[in-house]
Amino acid sequence: MARKPFIAGNWKMNMTAESGKELIAQLKPLVKEAKCNVALCVPAILIPAMVKAAKGSKIKIGAQNVHFAKSGAYTGEISADMLKEYGVKYVIIGHSERRQYFGETDETVNKRTLFALENELTPIVCVGETLSERENGETEKVLLKQLTVGLNGVTDVTKLVIAYEPVWAIGTGKTATDEQAQETIKYIRNTLGKIFGVKNANRVIIQYGGSMNAQNCKGLMAQPDIDGGLIGGASLKPDFATIVNFDK
Ligand code: 13P
Repeated sequence: MARKPFIAGNWKMNMTAESGKELIAQLKPLVKEAKCNVALCVPAILIPAMVKAAKGSKIKIGAQNVHFAKSGAYTGEISADMLKEYGVKYVIIGHSERRQYFGETDETVNKRTLFALENELTPIVCVGETLSERENGETEKVLLKQLTVGLNGVTDVTKLVIAYEPVWAIGTGKTATDEQAQETIKYIRNTLGKIFGVKNANRVIIQYGGSMNAQNCKGLMAQPDIDGGLIGGASLKPDFATIVNFDK
């Protein structure tokens, strides 16, 4: 079965309700003919306004995190029920910025992922090595741990999306080459095959993320194992539509 490409933006801690609405209004006509799935993962407080702004378009609104408890004393966190109330489908889990600055670990990624799946949200689980890990030849070892611990207990891997985001490529303008991204994503797919079976692994959408933009998207998307992109900086501009329309 062919995998449907999936281009998602990650606004991180950018935009306001005003600028977000303006951008979505600009994007709407530009992505009308898109053949891929499209999402924008926005700051939690902007979700209601952006859901309203994107209504009737191809753009689905996603979140950037979800907690692993149904509710409770977890100041600053957001629950699956809160997201679902607004029709949110996608949620980024384990972004490297959360791992780096907010104490996210493979274990908490695992809890969030299982809880999101239980609640019929589609997790976009982020994995990726740092520059020193790549330079020390540890990329595969790091990815193996992130995948085995992060996805431990998952029963249907086809219900989630993996985003391979090499940390050294995020926000640096230094994109992985098409070959580097393909080779590493192939490794990720093979690893999923060992854990969940080849047939299931072949159905998992795996995105590339890290300085992906309107210029380099075509080359990356042409790789056989790359099914989409998780776009940071370039999702804050109408340029995002060029990435969505990579096949035009
Ligand atoms: P940039 O596209 O800004 O490098 O960010 C990538 C990213 O982290 C998406 O989650």
